[in-house]
Amino acid sequence: MAAGSANCDIANPALADAGCGRVEWALQEMPVLRELAARFAQQRPLQGVRISGCLHITTETANLARTLKAAGADMVLCASNPLSTQDDVAAALVERYDIPVFAIRGESTEVYYRHINAALDHRPVITMDDGADLVSEIHQSRRELIDSMLGGTEETTTGVLRLRAMAEQGALRFPVIAVNDAMTKHLFDNRYGTGQSTLDGVIRATNILLAGKTFTVVGYGWCGRGIAMRAKGHGASVIVTEVDPLRALEAAMDGFRVMPLLAAARQSDFIVTASGDKHVVDTAHLEVMKDGCVLANSGHFNVEINIPALEAMSVDRQRPRPSVDEYRLADGRRLCLLAEGRLVNLAAAEGHPSAVMDMSFANQMLCAVYLAGREHRLDNAVHNVPAEIDREVARLKLAAMAISIDELTAQQRRYLSSWQEGT
Ligand SMILES: NC(=O)c1ccc[n+]([C@@H]2O[C@H](COP(=O)([O-])OP(=O)(O)OC[C@H]3O[C@@H](n4cnc5c(N)ncnc54)[C@H](O)[C@@H]3O)[C@@H](O)[C@H]2O)c1
Repeated sequence: MAAGSANCDIANPALADAGCGRVEWALQEMPVLRELAARFAQQRPLQGVRISGCLHITTETANLARTLKAAGADMVLCASNPLSTQDDVAAALVERYDIPVFAIRGESTEVYYRHINAALDHRPVITMDDGADLVSEIHQSRRELIDSMLGGTEETTTGVLRLRAMAEQGALRFPVIAVNDAMTKHLFDNRYGTGQSTLDGVIRATNILLAGKTFTVVGYGWCGRGIAMRAKGHGASVIVTEVDPLRALEAAMDGFRVMPLLAAARQSDFIVTASGDKHVVDTAHLEVMKDGCVLANSGHFNVEINIPALEAMSVDRQRPRPSVDEYRLADGRRLCLLAEGRLVNLAAAEGHPSAVMDMSFANQMLCAVYLAGREHRLDNAVHNVPAEIDREVARLKLAAMAISIDELTAQQRRYLSSWQEGT
């Protein structure tokens, strides 16, 4: 299979050896997927099931795709973000693991959608999305695929929000499982994965010391909590901005300063968005920021920072380092935007560490088997991950970490389910 052929479109097949080494390295940190691959290689529950994945093309995704293939799936992949593809991993998938990939780091929007459609030409019966682009494209322009769909799975918060909006408007024509909402996904992936890798992206891009700096996190959801926690660990003075009073209160009680972004913008050395919302950093904030302020985003889409406004305000733009665009404003201030406002942890670093993706992708794997094994199609709605899958992933991860836990005694089980017994 050659790069650019009808069966794949990748940057450079010669990178396969480098990619292979990194994929195998990541697998060492993914014991749950290894266990599932061994189990399903015997059972082959996905034999012949056509799956199209629109995911970040990283070492962890490669291991998910290999596990799906080991279970019998007929698998293709495209990218869920134009800047997150690791070209060596794409090459390894195509050249060494025989999994077609349509993804090139830095691809234009036009090529991005061409690749999504190439993945849909595979006629999937299961889609695996990170941001709902496959589901959205099927509903908007590939409706011929709808009838044969068993269902989809969705990896991230923003994708789940888009799908819920579709379901509420009666537009969703096949079932989707919200993998993001599994406990073994968002409690760990969004918090510890995004927390560590966002700081990794900011540091790799800038190499600026965080200790003693003022670091603002916009949005105190699962991702924001992790980013704030890790920035504090680096010695930064952390501010949190929120619109939800409960989350704002939680941030305050977790020890962070909480204030409106307009006040935070005046004193911040770093502002990182993780809100899943549009233009949370807007003209009014850009107008008052300190000279040299670093702006980055870890939310799904590159809309959290109002980049067109920043461009309109600036008189010059330089790229002093890869992933850093330094905008000079008319009043002489410089504002530094990382990774063009796209997911900084994937565009300027390598995304989540493998150990957290192990759990997220074990959920993906088990949900695909669940969709394929059902006698009847689920309703056309957004479904939760079945609780037994969530518990199974936690159990396998604990076992892999050699951690054992206590069990309820029969007496405790009775006590916890009774209401008569008091003091
Ligand atoms: N970078 C990654 O690898 C990665 C991983 C997981 C999720 N995500 C994405 O990160 C985003 C956040 O995910 P999450 O799971 O933390 O979501 P969440 O819903 O748990 O949290 C988002 C928070 O942002 C707050 N918010 C919304 N608008 C705001 C505004 N204008 N100002 C301040 N706060 C605002 C909300 O009140 C909420 O508390 C989503 O887009 C998600 O898809 C990225």
